[in-house]
Amino acid sequence: NNYVIIMAGGTGTRLWPVSTSKKPKQFHDLLGVGKTLLQMTYERFLAKFPKENIYIVTNKEYEGLIHEQIEGIGSQQLLLEPYKRNTAPCIAYAAYKIASKNPDASMVIAPADHLILKEDIFHQSIAVALDSAAKNDQLITLGMHPNRPETGYGYIQYIPDSATIKKVKTFTEKPEIGLAQKFIESGDFVWNAGIFVWSAKSIIKAYEDFLPDLAEIFADGKSQYFSTNESLFVNKAYTQCVNISIDFGIMEKAENVFVLLTDIGWSDLGNWESLHEIREKDNQENAAPQNVMSFNATGNIVTTDKSDLVVIQDLHGFLVAEQDGVLLICKKNAEKEIKEIVNSVKTEK
Ligand code: GDD
Ligand code: MG
Repeated sequence: NNYVIIMAGGTGTRLWPVSTSKKPKQFHDLLGVGKTLLQMTYERFLAKFPKENIYIVTNKEYEGLIHEQIEGIGSQQLLLEPYKRNTAPCIAYAAYKIASKNPDASMVIAPADHLILKEDIFHQSIAVALDSAAKNDQLITLGMHPNRPETGYGYIQYIPDSATIKKVKTFTEKPEIGLAQKFIESGDFVWNAGIFVWSAKSIIKAYEDFLPDLAEIFADGKSQYFSTNESLFVNKAYTQCVNISIDFGIMEKAENVFVLLTDIGWSDLGNWESLHEIREKDNQENAAPQNVMSFNATGNIVTTDKSDLVVIQDLHGFLVAEQDGVLLICKKNAEKEIKEIVNSVKTEK
């Protein structure tokens, strides 16, 4: 009765020029381990779930990349979206499809682009959450211990009792920096990892309550899922979908949100600085491949694409990233600036 929905249709442009809308970060080997983030995510679940119960939802633009990276994926495992409408439609599509086949299903919703170092603890936590979700009307998320006032995350305040799965008091998606600072100082908050567990029944009820338009659209597909008409139905359905994330659309509003606090060695690899933190580094704190020579250079992150040799000298705390004919050199913490650069580079590759 347990299913997995891997969300792989986002376009993480904060890791530009490596991550682009043509080939977003989930399709890259960002850690230099010989596997892309999507492959790591898929294999993590394949270790515990039957293959046919693992679904990948993505934009049809990425269909080719999925087939390249996930060998032998079944056509029923791959849910293709005609438009980018953020995570609420993506999850609705998969949840209604699963429910049409198995109304008693429970499911794990997972981003395709996160790092999870402690796989055993991750699987234990997921098993505990699935067990609880099957028995109770709960929307469960995994809570991560926060260490900085990051504004790109959801913040969860919970009722601090002894229960393993705690009731959530407030869920605040992507707060302003001032609010994020207050949350961190108070010590009462954890980050939302964006990994959710619930039953088909509970999430469908939540769509009916908080995103009734989406509920109506996807409930209509009941007889079309798992038929040859599915893509026709979906192509039409998506023209009517609002563009909203599950976090703003449901998690901030629902009363039955719960959190499982866990330490799974998590990073969402959201920007170059967090990637530098995670990657293997030399004794000068440089994260760089073999073909980089460094002289008096510290704390840099370098990725190369076609260059045979890259030499850095007297360079400290920089990003040097080469991809498909684009070379970016900037401070590795220039997250905001990179966003602006991406917006102004009209010929984005
Ligand atoms: N199929 C599909 N379609 N997938 C999508 C779409 C879409 O339209 N949009 C985003 N995704 C995928 C992304 O590829 C990613 O794997 C996942 O859904 C989450 O989307 P992001 O766009 O990366 O969300 P976020 O990082 O801004 O915020 C979420 O994650 C944070 C933790 O990393 C939220 O859940 C936050 O609350 C959370 O803290
Ligand atoms: Mg993300």
